[in-house]
Amino acid sequence: MAKTIGILTAGGDSPGLNAAIRGVGKAAIGAYGMHVVGFRDGFRGLMENRGSSLSPSDLSGILTIGGTILGTSRDKPNRMPVGKKTMDMTDAIVATYHNHHLDGLVCLGGGGTQKNAFHLLQNSLNVITLPKTIDNDVALTDITLGFDTALGIATDAIDRLHSTAHSHHRIIVVEVMGHNAGWLALGAGIAGGADVILIPEIPYDIEAVAEAIRHRSRTGSRFSIVAVSEGSMSRAQAETLQQAQALVDQAKGSKKRTRRSVEKAKAAKAKFSEIKEQVGNSTLQLSQELEQLTGLESRVTILGHLQRGGTPSAADRLLATRLGTACAGLVNQGMFGVMVATRGDGTEPVPLEDVVDKRKTVPLDHPWIQSARDIGVCLGDA
Ligand code: F6P
Repeated sequence: MAKTIGILTAGGDSPGLNAAIRGVGKAAIGAYGMHVVGFRDGFRGLMENRGSSLSPSDLSGILTIGGTILGTSRDKPNRMPVGKKTMDMTDAIVATYHNHHLDGLVCLGGGGTQKNAFHLLQNSLNVITLPKTIDNDVALTDITLGFDTALGIATDAIDRLHSTAHSHHRIIVVEVMGHNAGWLALGAGIAGGADVILIPEIPYDIEAVAEAIRHRSRTGSRFSIVAVSEGSMSRAQAETLQQAQALVDQAKGSKKRTRRSVEKAKAAKAKFSEIKEQVGNSTLQLSQELEQLTGLESRVTILGHLQRGGTPSAADRLLATRLGTACAGLVNQGMFGVMVATRGDGTEPVPLEDVVDKRKTVPLDHPWIQSARDIGVCLGDA
């Protein structure tokens, strides 16, 4: 009998999602004779039973379109806001899955989505995932869908910002997305010729950054471009964050679950989030500090969601099609509980349990880091 599969997109939107929906759908219908049901707005649509059949014509003409035709949300099956409450809606999701007689569910998303899909796997649903995020921080895959497009957009922005930087002899601090990993800032920084690149993996010494900029001024380059990940932090901020993390870990490790210990854990988590938020909002402060320390005028450009929008690059369309068609093939074989990872020119199914709760950050010995250092880029730590 023909198989029926569900498909949804969850987490932040990312260029190439429609190309991936198309890849999964066209292969599932055309090559394997399956029926495909698209669910709206991530796991919320599954919970609210908002699914409808996707026909070949629904999958036509979407290859180059940004965003996702299915809509997305950051809702989690086990902690979903419903009215004024946050509830575990896993049972409702399981019911929808069975109502549609699904043989499997394809979830396209980043780290959070992998975790949510794993939760559904533990509730006996046949799930399979594709890795998507412009941050490129999903574990065990060479690259994620959307990264290449965002890299192009951020690089183009840095190219353009050079005009003002050198004409006005200014520092331009350009904030690139990446709350926990520096792939995008590092890649775009190198490709765009940034003079300083700050990433979360290397807490920076503000004096070292200022000195690199002053050195450029002394040697005739009276402007500097600083590419900074939104999650990058000073050494002092990194220390405070580490202390907050230690308190969270301590609270987690506590064996006795008394009212006091639960409250302590809540407070530790809240403190950690507060510091994380401060870190995420400190680019303006960084710019002001650099202005004071160097005597040069400084301006901030925050690229924000521009990096997630618009037409996916050719590389992302190709990747989306490779991942999508590989996914349909695995579903046809009955392989679930895996993420379809990119491996070189191919793809590889990796168990979801190996992917969840991990993050692919930039290793300090990564070749991109070495290349940046070799061409004289300041990474904030010298
Ligand atoms: O996960 C990708 C990402 O683009 C992060 O870099 C960023 O912090 C986050 O999404 C912001 O997403 P939103 O504002 O849509 O919640």
